[in-house]
Amino acid sequence: MLDPYEIRKDFPLLESRGIVYLDNAATSQKPIQVIEAIRRFYQAHNANIHRGLHALSREASEEYEEAHSVVARFINARSWREVVFVRNTTEAINLVAYSWAMDRLGSGDEIVVTVMEHHSNMLPWVAIAKRLGAKVKVVGLASDYMLDYDALSEALTERTRIIAVSHASNVLGTINDVKGIAALAHEVGAVCLVDGAQSVPHMPVNVRELGCDFLAFSGHKMLGPTGIGVLYGREDLLEEMSPFMYGGDMVREVRYRNGAVEPAWNDLPWKFEAGTPNIAGGIGLAEAVKYLERIGMENVRAHEVELTSYALKRLSEVEGLNLFGPSSPTSRCGIIPFNLDGLDPHSLAAMLDERKIAVRSGFHCAQPLHEYLGLKEGTARASFYIYNTREEVDLLSESLAEIAEMLRSA
Ligand code: ALA
Repeated sequence: MLDPYEIRKDFPLLESRGIVYLDNAATSQKPIQVIEAIRRFYQAHNANIHRGLHALSREASEEYEEAHSVVARFINARSWREVVFVRNTTEAINLVAYSWAMDRLGSGDEIVVTVMEHHSNMLPWVAIAKRLGAKVKVVGLASDYMLDYDALSEALTERTRIIAVSHASNVLGTINDVKGIAALAHEVGAVCLVDGAQSVPHMPVNVRELGCDFLAFSGHKMLGPTGIGVLYGREDLLEEMSPFMYGGDMVREVRYRNGAVEPAWNDLPWKFEAGTPNIAGGIGLAEAVKYLERIGMENVRAHEVELTSYALKRLSEVEGLNLFGPSSPTSRCGIIPFNLDGLDPHSLAAMLDERKIAVRSGFHCAQPLHEYLGLKEGTARASFYIYNTREEVDLLSESLAEIAEMLRSA
């Protein structure tokens, strides 16, 4: 089991600000090791990659390439060529929508998503479906905020080309059986994209074990910097796909013959990394991955199950507080949405902020899910990570009880 009190010592912001940080689903805090890796790069190795024969460029290129291997090992990809660095989960999903789906789907083809997708895994599909005359099918929930697997099976037809599904909901915390879903996709000849934004930072994720074709996730939710994310794609699929963006480094050579420009694309993953990439971000992400590997992802998950289980118990004791999401902590990640009777979620978050407790409020970039659940004003949401403690959960539940009492006596 990990020790959150030891871990907290690595996080300067947590040490200095005295804030109970429970907004980890939006972004995590950064350990000193990651901050130092980025500083070290700019201070001692900074140069552009793949563009110079000088020592600094060689060092930067090696570190940036190595970062891809570190991520490939973390998710058990077959090769670092299957790891494309992008800005974030959103860009990774858009890459698949525009480079894979746009060239392969046509009128009447079907894209299957779930109602719990955040906008990043919903809007790209809606946008390209509109352009192609394809159809987006949205699968709802069954009991206890779990995905309706019967409805998912019924939604699949011979026209299904892709199932795009979150591994863990950023609102409800619900963990989806993406291994089973990938198998269902393959049975009808479709591919499966897994949105791992809320799972890769919090539990072991093994792409070979899951059998998914694509996996998208962000560095900043897993101790890394903002502006760096990952698209994992099966090598054969990435090889067949056209580039997403065009420019420097994604091309091996560009010939100019008889007035015509003839490009030949670079090898994977560079074919999908046009322009100068976020070099420091990639190096920072690799450091974050190494930090998580030292703790062990099984331990990260065990800590969050334990903390979520404790939080569900404590929060359910608060009169007037409504909790959403699966009742079993093993069916969800460390995310708890809630509403307090008589108070809108934004005012509740503001009152918690006055008590130095940071939670997110609103629709959490997942408005369709809130509409589906009839939560017109959204929810407030607490989300945990490796450095959160039982004492912080106590502070949250005591503060909520105090606010609830204030409302009752007002
Ligand atoms: N999708 C992120 C969240 O849930 C930004 O807060």
